[in-house]
Amino acid sequence: MTYSNKAKRKVLVVVGTRPEAIKLAPVIKELSQRASVFDLRICVTAQHREMLDQMLELFEIKPDIDLDIMRPKQALPDLTARVLRGMSRVFKREKPDLVLIQGDTTTVLATALAAFYQRIPVGHVEAGLRTRDRYNPFPEEINRRLVGSLAHFHFAPTPYARENLLAEGVDPKTIFVTGNTVIDALKWILSEPPTDKERQLLVSLEVKGKLVVVTAHRRESFGQPLVSLCRALRTLVERNPDVTLVYPVHPNPQVREVVRHLLTGHKRIYLIEPLPYASFVRLMHMSYMIMTDSGGIQEEATALGKPVLVLREKTERPEVVEAGVARLVGTDEERIVSTAEELLNNRSLYRKMARAREIFGDGHAAERIADILEQSLPKETKYL
Ligand code: UD1
Ligand code: UDP
Repeated sequence: MTYSNKAKRKVLVVVGTRPEAIKLAPVIKELSQRASVFDLRICVTAQHREMLDQMLELFEIKPDIDLDIMRPKQALPDLTARVLRGMSRVFKREKPDLVLIQGDTTTVLATALAAFYQRIPVGHVEAGLRTRDRYNPFPEEINRRLVGSLAHFHFAPTPYARENLLAEGVDPKTIFVTGNTVIDALKWILSEPPTDKERQLLVSLEVKGKLVVVTAHRRESFGQPLVSLCRALRTLVERNPDVTLVYPVHPNPQVREVVRHLLTGHKRIYLIEPLPYASFVRLMHMSYMIMTDSGGIQEEATALGKPVLVLREKTERPEVVEAGVARLVGTDEERIVSTAEELLNNRSLYRKMARAREIFGDGHAAERIADILEQSLPKETKYL
């Protein structure tokens, strides 16, 4: 495959879910500012609908193509097939010089595969994260490994991610440590004062005492682990009158039904709709601690200096644990409650964990990615 002989490089950015929109928004902004170099096209698969639209609106991203793929309770084989077929049609029509994807979702895997079938080069943002456990997180760990084989440019957020790729035999010339673009997004939001709407939301929550922000949505936790996790949250609030819990609930029915069933009806537990990113960032900022199974929130909490209890058995971001910001607590009820109470009551432990660290980047990852593409795209055809 060689690049067509034209002045601008056509880059197609593909976005499927909420975290992809947040983490690609800074890259889209950066590429769009270099209009003399890049012919930028944006395609959303809309693997997520409402949560994606919420982010597109906030970051003022206007997709050129929308595959509108989401279905209620979508199953992985159908979702994968719809993205694969949809993206194949898009690539035939658009013929981009490069496809840019982010993370580890089904959109990312199926898009990389569709691009491979048409010999279109792929750039992978947030490359190299691994737990080395194929079912944790599921299916994301395998998605990442497969995309690692398919991509031509690997934008690793940290040196640890780079090491993972090298260990799998990825050509070192194709790996670039850039930092994570989520830090760019976080700093972008925090550089602007809160809007009235964001302020009103925080006031309406009437938080007294210590605010604990919670999110949980992972497929490997469906069923008993999620039940156990919710019981832990309820016990924590019941035993600690100074705690208010705010939980924006993921719209997946398999999450909602359990969470609503086990956590409604307590005046210090707020189950709310997913928040626009800017509001969620403000919420994290005013929290005492965060309990989550989200990948992105682990990174943001580290940058904000908010202690995190990671509600998972394994993390592909061991940096957060090594840096002392996070504790891996899994979904066991007793373990979650006892670790959370330790953090509520032990001031010196809390102070040690509540320190902001720059391990995931300095807020200039998108700039680095755009620089690398600008330098490499016209020249580096040898491994395509
Ligand atoms: C997906 C990703 C996961 C990522 C997460 C971010 C896969 C396999 N999973 O998980 O890696 O961490 O997104 O949130 O790619 N739904 C809505 N509205 C929305 C979004 C989802 O109603 O805006 C409901 C739908 O019923 C949908 C279901 O949630 O079928 C599941 O969505 P899906 O994208 O398959 O899985 P997530 O759990 O969101
Ligand atoms: N987030 C948000 N609103 C919310 C909950 C989360 O904007 O109500 C943001 C959060 O700050 C992070 C991202 O969504 O940047 C994480 O998305 P999610 O948990 O869906 O995916 P994961 O990180 O697990 O892939």
